[in-house]
Amino acid sequence: MQEGYDRCTAEYESVRRSESEPALELLVGKLHKGARILDIGCGSGVPAARQLSCIFEVTGVDLSSEMVRRARKNVPSAAFIHSDIMTVDLTDSHFDAAAAIYSIFHLPREEHRGLFARVHRWLKPGGYFLATVSEEGEAPYIEEDFFGTTMYWSNYGRREYLEMFRDTGFHVLESDALGHGYQEAHHAAREHHPLILAQKVQG
Ligand SMILES: C[S@@+](CC[C@H](N)C(=O)[O-])C[C@H]1O[C@@H](n2cnc3c(N)ncnc32)[C@H](O)[C@@H]1O
Repeated sequence: MQEGYDRCTAEYESVRRSESEPALELLVGKLHKGARILDIGCGSGVPAARQLSCIFEVTGVDLSSEMVRRARKNVPSAAFIHSDIMTVDLTDSHFDAAAAIYSIFHLPREEHRGLFARVHRWLKPGGYFLATVSEEGEAPYIEEDFFGTTMYWSNYGRREYLEMFRDTGFHVLESDALGHGYQEAHHAAREHHPLILAQKVQG
């Protein structure tokens, strides 16, 4: 995974750089200026960290050293950590929100529940979690040509994710068509992935 994203950073960034992330508006309206946001699998910081760092204090975490190197250049006002999100050591009850935009499905799906529990711990009570998920479950598979490199994916379906969010102590606020789109290349059709916006249950 790390090598794959190290190799395709430039190509991936060239697509994402010119995009914006409308789904982030869901968080923006709920947070105060200067709120702390964790960007999980932040890539090279565009578009999400770039958008958010105008108003908020952003910390991005990414497994790819090349992505993190570029993110530091693209968004100098944010902090970036080069690490696996499953091993990174972050402070409990520290963040007002977390966003995982197109990143969760790169982790083995058996780890997703554990990731949600970690995010829950890092959020303040009442904190928000915005995540791109998938409509249908997919067993692990390899895509041979993802921006010119081999890539791994696995995910559950939206229904299972909703259950996991609830089980790990989140209240789901929104879970469907939020007008999100994603394009693997300028000439490719947009992919639509559902998003879940959830809130850490208080107390
Ligand atoms: C499809 S890209 C999404 C990047 C960015 N969030 C965006 O919206 O364009 C997935 C990112 O997740 C990162 N990633 C994959 N597995 C990870 C893990 N276990 N921990 C941290 N980052 C990871 C990859 O390195 C890559 O930068």
